[in-house]
Amino acid sequence: MEIKDMAVADLTEADAITELDRLAVAISHHNHMYHRNDAPEISDAAFDALMRRNMDIEAAFPHLIRLDSPSLTVGTAPSTQFGKYRHHVPMLSLANAFDNADAMDFDQRVKRFLNLPAEQDIPYSVEPKIDGLSISLRYEYGKLVAGITRGDGVEGEDVTANIRTISDIPEQLTQCDFAVAEIRGEIFMTKADFFALNENQQQTNSKVFANPRNAAAGSLRQKDPTITAARALRFFAYAAGEMSAWNVTSHHDYLMLLETWGFVINPLSALVANIADALKYYDHIAAIRADLDYDIDGVVYKVDQLDYQNRLGQVSRSPRWAIAHKFPAEKAQTHILGIDIQVGRTGALTPVARLQPVTVGGVVVSNATLHNEDYITDKDIRIGDQVQIQRAGDVIPQVLGVDVEARDGNETVFIYPDHCPSCGSPAIRPEGEAVRRCTGQLSCPAQLLERLKHFVSRDAFDIEGLGARIIEELHQEGMLNEPADIFHLNRYRDTLAARDGWGELSVNNLFSAIEQRRNIPLERLIYGLGIRQIGQATSLLLARHFGSLEQLIATAQAANDVAINDHKAPNQAPNQAWQTLTGIDQIGDSVAHDIVRFLSDDHNQQAINRLLEVVHPIPPEAVASDSPVAGKTVVFTGTLLQMSRAEAKAKAELLGAKVAGSVSAKTDYVVIGADAGSKARKAEALGVTILDEERWLALTQS
Ligand code: IVH
Repeated sequence: MEIKDMAVADLTEADAITELDRLAVAISHHNHMYHRNDAPEISDAAFDALMRRNMDIEAAFPHLIRLDSPSLTVGTAPSTQFGKYRHHVPMLSLANAFDNADAMDFDQRVKRFLNLPAEQDIPYSVEPKIDGLSISLRYEYGKLVAGITRGDGVEGEDVTANIRTISDIPEQLTQCDFAVAEIRGEIFMTKADFFALNENQQQTNSKVFANPRNAAAGSLRQKDPTITAARALRFFAYAAGEMSAWNVTSHHDYLMLLETWGFVINPLSALVANIADALKYYDHIAAIRADLDYDIDGVVYKVDQLDYQNRLGQVSRSPRWAIAHKFPAEKAQTHILGIDIQVGRTGALTPVARLQPVTVGGVVVSNATLHNEDYITDKDIRIGDQVQIQRAGDVIPQVLGVDVEARDGNETVFIYPDHCPSCGSPAIRPEGEAVRRCTGQLSCPAQLLERLKHFVSRDAFDIEGLGARIIEELHQEGMLNEPADIFHLNRYRDTLAARDGWGELSVNNLFSAIEQRRNIPLERLIYGLGIRQIGQATSLLLARHFGSLEQLIATAQAANDVAINDHKAPNQAPNQAWQTLTGIDQIGDSVAHDIVRFLSDDHNQQAINRLLEVVHPIPPEAVASDSPVAGKTVVFTGTLLQMSRAEAKAKAELLGAKVAGSVSAKTDYVVIGADAGSKARKAEALGVTILDEERWLALTQS
């Protein structure tokens, strides 16, 4: 009897190995025929029988389960959506340096923060910056348990089944017994594999990819892992996420450790003694860039010593200890076919050049920003002009300048509108400002629409299936006018299911994505409101400080009388609420004005109230709530000796303290360094606890 016909109970270990082998090949083949070629060769029942036999053998011989076992990678119905996964340690992005001066500034900033002499050498671990997509791999006791995309840095998508098909990603680490080791790096496709893939796609009338990065991203986000398996994806490891143990003291040693564990690290990674050598390394990599078989868009410098990295920490969403030194933007020549005016969510009018499409660095560009009206006049940009454009990474392409020689007299000067092209309201440019704004507020359809788009954008509500284009359509069809409407879309279930290209499944998916977002982190909600000047970092500050939207609104409203009277109510000092807002570190008068103006507006208030009926904000987790300074408000003043003011501030925030810029009755501690001036006197007058640096350190290190 052939092995394939034997009962599982009768198989020897050797038989089982042979049979698992045969099943893996057969299942992968049938899966491929079914999902990729739409040409199944066997019935569903016969396929299920193969899967079942595979599972039965694995149950009888668990030590023989293959790393690429079909039970791990296929067989489950392809999900229509990848599950969301919250990163244990956020995945950061990198700040950019665009020239040597920026890179040298970075080196100086590092030393200032660490209180080191300006001339001291800081060794850097240097690596090419791979133009791919980052991924976080979680290993428990050396075994791969999850592969998660970066997402917004806090929450990514679970693509574990897909990354298991990438041969550079070990299933089992060699000599790693850490309970948890998260390894981060870049998934990419080589140029050669990209060209081969595109050729194949073309022949099979399938989607052709614009560049290797898109090809890698498209290949990773397949619902069916066998498709990912068929694409040649590579992986370079370069950073750490959550680690239950740590046995190296430098980034360079960490890379060596990754190699021992079985990862591929970039062969061009190097250790240099100081920033001057890092700049030489940059020149070297720039010179060999074209010969590399994969795309890179710069070089990354990382402070090598891990104790320095820990002290430096992060600001907003990038580490203070690393920087990406980018290659210069790619340039091209083309013609301006016309100039459109776009109206943003805050009413800003932005001129956009419509271009004769041109390929720049592998991407077709047909629009470029012209920034504002002065930019057009200063550069004398006319419709019909031949212009030079540039595109750098994800940045919007720009028009650099005009080729005046190429003019033939048919060019026309653009007349900048003084009324909003969307709603016709006057567009006003306040004196001293570069931007002209529509005064129509929410009665302006363009502003309304842009606000809705911002509300669902990736860093705000990030609702899968509800991108900018769908928002636009649903708005036009009258289903969406304000954020709260999104959570009432089920009223239109039948209309939505009947839309072209939709159906029960897409509608169900959309509704489930919307349902998931009813519980939303407070900082995302604040950011999603789209208040001028309130980016993600400020949203987080506000969320931490106020803990609820109601509290923030109450403060903004109490500050309103003062704000409209130029920060001061008649004959009195700025009020308490205004002081609370501007007392928050990094929030100055101008930002406070925008918060107050937005949250005191009747229309906005009503829209927010309706929104709060359908969503439940989750306050940010208290940071280090067991520290003695958690929840306390601290002001630093004067020159500190042990660490820089920036480091002291960052550390206090990590311990859950709120750092304020000015002393008030609400301040808990004022920490004074040498030459402390008026803030120390004010603290004394108000009876606030004053600590010198030593006592502050004793308090925070206890
Ligand atoms: S280090 C905490 N090293 O660039 C710092 N990033 O623009 C973690 N990237 O999100 C990143 N090559 O996806 C690092 N050698 C390299 C890199 C690299 C590419 C990507 C990464 C990151 C993005 C930031």
